[in-house]
Amino acid sequence: MEENGALLATVLDGVKQLAKPGVSTQELDRFAEDGIRRAGAVPAFKGYRGYKATLCTSLNCEVVHGIPSKKRVLAEGDILSVDIGLKKDGLFADMAVTIPIGTVSEEVQRFLRISEESLEEAIRKAWPGNRLGDISHAVQSHVERAGYSVVRDYVGHGLGYALHEEPVIPNFGKAGTGPRLEPGMVLAIEPMVNMGGYEVQTLSDGWTVVTVDGSLSAHFEHSVAVTESGPRVLTRHPGKG
Ligand code: MF3
Ligand code: CO
Repeated sequence: MEENGALLATVLDGVKQLAKPGVSTQELDRFAEDGIRRAGAVPAFKGYRGYKATLCTSLNCEVVHGIPSKKRVLAEGDILSVDIGLKKDGLFADMAVTIPIGTVSEEVQRFLRISEESLEEAIRKAWPGNRLGDISHAVQSHVERAGYSVVRDYVGHGLGYALHEEPVIPNFGKAGTGPRLEPGMVLAIEPMVNMGGYEVQTLSDGWTVVTVDGSLSAHFEHSVAVTESGPRVLTRHPGKG
């Protein structure tokens, strides 16, 4: 799973470098699918419940599950959440990142920083003996302290031989509650953070989830193994610590 995670992070890094004003989300999707297949892996989302793309590309007030399209062209100041998954040798890797397009305001930079930090805080709790609620609480407290909100309707998940396994991992909850974490568990921890209220709704395409109040949304995700010696992030880029 670590090899798969490194491969996934490498492909996503290429997507990040391509994500510039003037590029369509479909171009990003093509690039990602090519990279995954050239490595002998398959996109994890394509075909999942009828989903037709490799990436989920969610722009600005879109929270998750935005569908890549040649009509969606990136513009200076946008933020773009890219969610990507692959399967190789029967094992899944899953990760997401929100990318600033060109230059974004300081307010937006802070929003992205806090959102990413909430994932890092959660990862630090992924020790054997801790409880699932410790992870959930770490995300929620970091986000809410900064004045933002966590999405309730979508959650993280276990993964391994399936993309979605137990447990369900909410991004809100009480420390010290829920199942105990054990060595060998692999968790996709994925805070979805709104700048405004936490309410979301799904558009008529049946996929795209947006904030109800139109505020910006960010999404950061890593696949993380719980080991005897602590959390091991499987989806780190090999060259970038
Ligand atoms: N990356 C999402 C997750 O973490 C799955 C995307 S749903 C899909 O569970 F339909 F687009 F595949
Ligand atoms: Co996921």
